[in-house]
Amino acid sequence: MTSTQHPQDPTSALRHEAGASRGARIIGTGSDLPEEIRTNFDLARTLDTSDEWIRSRTGIGARRIAAKGDKTSDMARRASQRALEASGLTGRDLDMIVVATVTPDRPLPSTASLIHHQLGARTDCAAFDVAAACGGFCYGLTLARAQIESGLARYVLVIGVELLSRIVDWTDRGTCVLFGDGAGAVVVGPTDASSTGRVLATALGVDGSLTESLTIVAGGSEEPPSDEAIAAKRHLVRMNGQEVFKAAVRYLSEVSARSLTQCGLTPDQIDWVVPHQANQRILEAVGDRLGIPTSRMVLNLERYGNTSSASIPIALDEAVRGGVIKPGQHLLFCALGAGVAFGSAVVRW
Ligand code: COA
Repeated sequence: MTSTQHPQDPTSALRHEAGASRGARIIGTGSDLPEEIRTNFDLARTLDTSDEWIRSRTGIGARRIAAKGDKTSDMARRASQRALEASGLTGRDLDMIVVATVTPDRPLPSTASLIHHQLGARTDCAAFDVAAACGGFCYGLTLARAQIESGLARYVLVIGVELLSRIVDWTDRGTCVLFGDGAGAVVVGPTDASSTGRVLATALGVDGSLTESLTIVAGGSEEPPSDEAIAAKRHLVRMNGQEVFKAAVRYLSEVSARSLTQCGLTPDQIDWVVPHQANQRILEAVGDRLGIPTSRMVLNLERYGNTSSASIPIALDEAVRGGVIKPGQHLLFCALGAGVAFGSAVVRW
C-alpha cells in the first residue's frame, strides 16, 4: 500500500486489486408500493373518463397512491432496505447512493442525502439525485456501472422513486390517468466468479428539442412559486401526449438497439425486456421495431400505471422475486421521459 492510500478506503483497495477490468453486476433488488389502489373506475367517478378509454389507450387499469404524510424518501428507504437485504449488505457498505427522481421530498437537500442518513451510510459515501425523469433509472445504473468498472466504487445503490400523485393535475384527464407512485432499488457491485446480474451494456441520450412536450413550468428559477402560478396550475405536470408517444417509440427503439450493438447481442437473444411502463401501445410499437413481442416483456403497468423512474426497478424486483427472471437470461431495460431523456441497458441475470 502506498502512503496516499488510506487503509480504510475501500475504493483505493479496489483500484489496487482489480484495476479497470472489473465488471458491474446487480446483486440485490427491492421495491415499495403504497397500499392505496386507485382504479380507472375510481377516477371515472370525478373525471370525464372511463375504464374502457384508459385501458384501450394505455393498458393501465389502476395505480397506487401514497398515503398522506408518506414522503418520497419513505418509499425510497423501504425499497432500499429490501434491496440491501437481498444483497447481504448494509448501508455502511455503500460507496455511492444515486436517487433518480423528479419528486424529491424538497428542492434542498437531495433526497439521496436523506436516504444516506436513514440507511446509516458512511460519510465517505457519495449521495446525490439525478433528474432524468422516467429515464432516470437507466442514468443511475449507467453511473453505477461506470463507478464500479473504473474502480472508483465497490457498491452503489441506485433508487428510482416517484410520488407523482402530488404533482399531477387531478382535473386533467389527459395526464392524471397515466401516473402512479412507487419506488424500486438495486444494489450494484463488482462482478465475482458467478457474475450473475452483470451489466453488459448501457446507452443514454436526450432530444432537448422536445423539452416542452412534458414539463412543469412553475416552481423553479424560471417561474418561482406564486399564487398566480398555483391558480393557473403551472406547478403541475403538462404534457403533449402525442408528441411524447412518437418520441418514445422512436427513441426507445434506437437506444435499445445501441445497447444491443454494444454487447453484440441480437433481439432474439433477449429473454425479457423490462421496460419503462408508460403505455402498452408504445411498448407494442417498440416491440414491433425491435422484433420482440410483448409476451417477452415484463409488464405491470396494468396494476401500477406509469411510476416514472421507479417503473423498471419495481418490475425487475417483482420478476426476480417471482421467479420469472432466471439466472443466465438476458434482460433489456429501456426508458424515456421528460427531457426527452432516454436510456437502455442489457444485463445477463
Ligand atoms: N378519458 C377520456 N378521454 C380522454 C382522456 C381520458 N382520460 N384523455 C384525453 N381524452 C380525450 C381528449 O380530450 C381528446 O378529446 P377531443 O378529441 O374531444 O379533444 C381525445 O381523447 C383524444 O385525445 P388525444 O390526446 O389525441 O388522445 P391520444 O390517443 O393521443 O391518447 C394519451 C392520449 C395520453 C393516452 C397518449 O397520447 C399517450 O399515451 N401518450 C404518451 C404519454 C406518456 O406515456 N407520457 C409519459 C411518458 S414517460
